[in-house]
Amino acid sequence: MEKILVLDFGGQYNQLIARRVRDNNVYAEILPYTTPIEVIKANNYKGIIFTGGPNSVYDMKSPHYTKEILELGIPVLGICYGCQLIAWMCDGVVKTAPVSEYGKIEVTVKDSLLFKGIPEKSVVWMSHTDYIAQPPEHFEVVGCSKDCPCAAMQYPEKEIYAVQFHPEVTHSEYGLKMLHNFLYLVCKCSGDWVMDNFIEKTVSELREKIGDKRVILGLSGGVDSSVAAGLLSRAVGDQLTCVFVDQGLMRKDEGDFVEKTFTSLFDMKFIRVNCQEHFLKALKGVTDPEEKRKIIGTEFYKVFWEEIRKQDEKGYFAQGTIYPDCIESGKGNADKIKTHHNKVKMPDDIEFLDIIEPLSSLFKDEVRRVGEKLGIPHELVWRQPFPGPGLGVRIIGEITAEKIEILQQADAIFREEMANSEYESNLAQFFAVLPGVKSVGVMGDHRTYEQLVILRAVTTDDFMTADWARIPYELLARVSNRITNEVKGINRVVYDITSKPPATVEYE
Ligand code: XMP
Repeated sequence: MEKILVLDFGGQYNQLIARRVRDNNVYAEILPYTTPIEVIKANNYKGIIFTGGPNSVYDMKSPHYTKEILELGIPVLGICYGCQLIAWMCDGVVKTAPVSEYGKIEVTVKDSLLFKGIPEKSVVWMSHTDYIAQPPEHFEVVGCSKDCPCAAMQYPEKEIYAVQFHPEVTHSEYGLKMLHNFLYLVCKCSGDWVMDNFIEKTVSELREKIGDKRVILGLSGGVDSSVAAGLLSRAVGDQLTCVFVDQGLMRKDEGDFVEKTFTSLFDMKFIRVNCQEHFLKALKGVTDPEEKRKIIGTEFYKVFWEEIRKQDEKGYFAQGTIYPDCIESGKGNADKIKTHHNKVKMPDDIEFLDIIEPLSSLFKDEVRRVGEKLGIPHELVWRQPFPGPGLGVRIIGEITAEKIEILQQADAIFREEMANSEYESNLAQFFAVLPGVKSVGVMGDHRTYEQLVILRAVTTDDFMTADWARIPYELLARVSNRITNEVKGINRVVYDITSKPPATVEYE
């Protein structure tokens, strides 16, 4: 498989660069700038992209790389900091720019393989305070803006290209075309990264590795573990056992839906462990959010490992870990590795042959594409993020069976109305919350004193920040009417109009 290396110098768009490359049907992987040159040489990359980064290249503490990388005969594209780094490595002059550029800027480009089919003037996304005051010897300036005399440079004989702007962000009008040109005209990629190939190749590798042994997978009903289950089922059929721990904190009917989907669509052994009572007992009287989260996490694994211990044959253990869970980022302290939050430590007494992570090279959207190709239902593949502790963090205060039931009903009505409204696709996430507040109401001629429910809906690209969604009033009115009429125990509905920050998406 053809591969592009995205060498990470700590920029905020590094994952985006890799995704854009993959969107062009070329596989890309991200490695930190601390990766030894020997590793790079051994990988047969078709091209290397230096990412942006927050530092100044002339500060000796900033991330640098040996100049040897430019002598490997592998095409290189430098972006932003990566562009300045190439200039610095080749003895050009990089300085603080007299005028920093930030945002959409018009650039003028000259004839270059990188800009083939792109108009002479177009808008790009700039974000820099340093600039190339003097390009290195042999480099030709092929792009400039009003305040940046070297917005793009090239040394075609050595296949080195560099741009001060960010072609990977959509604000750069022809950015994707530029990346496409780099991949196909400079690196001469053929575009062999397609999901059908991925499925075929992975299934045959899984078959070979697993042989006639057994595999066990913890299925949460989330996208990643569901797609991992689909792939493994296609590879080894009923040698796969999926263990689905239903702690009773899922959305209404979700446990049944997961069970029905996997038992009817796929060949596998499916074990559902219904343990709501176990969880309610463990959570009795607990109101502190962190304590609740801790208990739900610990009890989940207790139940899960207990189930695994019942399997008598030693086999493989599979997980739905995806690529962003595995990336070592070059950001900040280069030695620090991001927490592998999906990687679970097995208890010492459980023996297994190896861990299998069939999705560990994929981004989320690629996982979804694989899921669709495997025939996993749309509702599962496009499922909204759902917190591990489930409705446990959407019920403020103590969790009881009655509160779970009320919240599930209100949440189901909200989801149903959204699905019918065609407004749903505008939203990243929406759900109901039970804050444990009672208020006075009137129903018929009677006073009521019942629960309040909060509706939360957000738009966001990355969940680091989020805006509250401007849902049409009529739609909110319909949801409110239905909830107060249909859900016993609720007499008031409010809509949350807080962004993140200062709030978070969830309540606990
Ligand atoms: P917050 O509340 O931090 O949520 O703004 C951001 C996104 O993360 C999800 N979330 C979780 N996901 N386990 C998860 O797998 C958790 O404990 C958890 N807490 C929050 C949340 O639903 C939102 O999409």
